[in-house]
Amino acid sequence: RTRLLLDVDTGIDDAVALLYLLATPGTSIEAITCTAGNVGAQQVAINNLALLELCGRAGIEVALGSEVPLEIPLVTTEETHGDQGIGYAVLPSPRGHISSRHAVDVWLDAVRCHPGQITGLVTGPLTNLALALRAEPDLPMLLKGLVIMGGAFHHPGNTTPVAEWNTHVDPHAAKEVFAAYEGLPLEKLPVVCALETTERIECTPAHVDAVAQAAGAAPEVLDPDDPDGTRSGSDNAVVACISDALRFYMEFHRLYDQGYIAHLHDLFAAMVATGEAGFEERLATVDVETESPLTFGQTVADVAGMWKRAPNARIITRNDPAAVFDVMVRRLSDLARM
Ligand code: BDR
Ligand code: CA
Repeated sequence: RTRLLLDVDTGIDDAVALLYLLATPGTSIEAITCTAGNVGAQQVAINNLALLELCGRAGIEVALGSEVPLEIPLVTTEETHGDQGIGYAVLPSPRGHISSRHAVDVWLDAVRCHPGQITGLVTGPLTNLALALRAEPDLPMLLKGLVIMGGAFHHPGNTTPVAEWNTHVDPHAAKEVFAAYEGLPLEKLPVVCALETTERIECTPAHVDAVAQAAGAAPEVLDPDDPDGTRSGSDNAVVACISDALRFYMEFHRLYDQGYIAHLHDLFAAMVATGEAGFEERLATVDVETESPLTFGQTVADVAGMWKRAPNARIITRNDPAAVFDVMVRRLSDLARM
């Protein structure tokens, strides 16, 4: 069984990752903690509660963490993920409540109760993880492992020419997290899913249609030329949610000349955490630029030991997008059929 603690900034691709995890046998979500990023942290929490209720899984704890980055003002990106953070999807207001516990307490209580058994998965800025590491420097040893979506080592960034979104929102937190892992045992180092691997996970309208059809729902045609088609007509609530969220994300990617597709960054990280995505990796020492106005938020990886510093990350170098989509279609259609 894979036991996961999630820290997220839901977010369209965070949402797809959550739906995938909820549908994956042998995977349990211990709790979901929320950070500010794509949208404000409160909205992130509401989105997670609503997604859990959509899937009949209201019992999972959803807690708030920091509502701002460690040292800089919060910038959110509604133009990427929609005003509420899940594109055109509109979910009923959740009946459940945000936990009274802080994200840091949720993580520390969980790993102290179950040392070495829980894998952390962070698909938003690293603010909450940095705070948890300040409170418990042994956190890496108490976790079984850690998977992070963030950074850009070989690609242009998606936020500045050199910076990826999650790292750019809170580069000071990212710097602290990587520093905290320097010199730890290799199996405890974070597995880092950066843009050069996650931008290969290009979801197309055909993938969305495949989910609908495998779920036994009517074909779901996301048509880039249909200005009125912003809401799915599907009577399957899960298919409609996925389709309405992804249509918005595809329109966003098209705006930036990436085509009518959606990069499912966080879905890939989730599959790395469950062990369902194959990949190759290499050790590196990662550091983050927090001073220069020109390269603020850039992640730099020393893979050749030039800095004479111990490795602090396992950077994914190869992945298999087709295999990711095979699993995605299977799991999301199972979820929609439930
Ligand atoms: C990351 O930034 C966010 O917008 C996405 O949810 C993903 O986690 C990609 O850079
Ligand atoms: Ca995210």
